[in-house]
Amino acid sequence: KRPAGAPDKSLARKVTKVGIVGAGLMASQMALLFARRLQVPVVLTDLDEERAQKGVSYVHNEVEKLLAKGRINSDKANRLKSLVTGSADKATAFAGADFVIEAVFEEMSVKKSVFADVEKVVSPECILATNTSSLSITEMASELEHPERVVGFHFFNPVAIMPLLEIVKGEQTDDATLATAFATGKGLKKTTILVSDSPSFIVNRLLGRFLGEVAKAVDAGTPIETADAAFAGVAPMPPFMLLGLVGPAIALHNNETLVKAFPERFYVSPLLEKVVEEKISSFYLPDLTIDPKVKALQVAP
Ligand code: 3HC
Repeated sequence: KRPAGAPDKSLARKVTKVGIVGAGLMASQMALLFARRLQVPVVLTDLDEERAQKGVSYVHNEVEKLLAKGRINSDKANRLKSLVTGSADKATAFAGADFVIEAVFEEMSVKKSVFADVEKVVSPECILATNTSSLSITEMASELEHPERVVGFHFFNPVAIMPLLEIVKGEQTDDATLATAFATGKGLKKTTILVSDSPSFIVNRLLGRFLGEVAKAVDAGTPIETADAAFAGVAPMPPFMLLGLVGPAIALHNNETLVKAFPERFYVSPLLEKVVEEKISSFYLPDLTIDPKVKALQVAP
């Protein structure tokens, strides 16, 4: 059955090579998924060779885990490893790519400049997809020569496990781009839904409200462990563990986008701001005594 709002699949173009901008955790998880499900070459790119190769190493490591679990045989493992490569040179890396997705820092100016660079080295039909979790697709495409090939392609963490993919249509996204995005999502075995180009789309807007309410309780004095314990059996993952999984910086950017758009409904927690400022990755670290005057920010060792 065609997902609601998806154009006719006959408009979809074939994807034969995938380029990824960014080689961080989300990007590397995506690389493995594209290679495994579409069985096409995937190139991870980053600012330098070392970062790009770190992404490739992540993929190789995950392939080894799949092999050890018996999910794939050694031929498949070798093939997967050979499909995923890394490079710091986008011009060479993206030659012949028909689907490039970015997963870089969640800031509009950074994403715009990434797409402007990519546009110089790919064909006019190459899809430019973004894994943004909150930013406007229309604005991201606005200064490009071919804004009609830009589409939101939003995965959830862990990419291999979470079934949903939000596909976001910008004002200028054309039907061939949208049809290709849906066909690619199906090839990745994800459940695809078309969502409107509004701040944080659907899932992160709901999550922002949910996590914002929990953060308010913690900012008012509820210990983090208590807040998390309260959700055992209610949510698949307790709220502060989830914040650690998606990354505090992403969660903060998401909340900031939402507060800007809907100030009466959303909340930026000072705890979250501090955690990002201090570059702390887990809310459970014993040294999370950020401000001794604020009791709620203290976590006992
Ligand atoms: N990375 C990769 N794989 C992971 C993983 C991770 N971080 N965590 C768990 N897995 C895999 C395990 O290896 C296992 O795979 P297997 O079946 O092949 O062995 C499978 O997931 C199930 O793992 P477990 O049985 O150990 O664990 P759980 O039953 O507790 O499930 C979970 C783990 C699926 C991560 C579950 O806790 C969950 O659903 N959590 C909520 C995740 C969520 O809400 N994600 C959305 C966040 S919002 C977002 O990403 C948007 C972004 O824009 C911010």
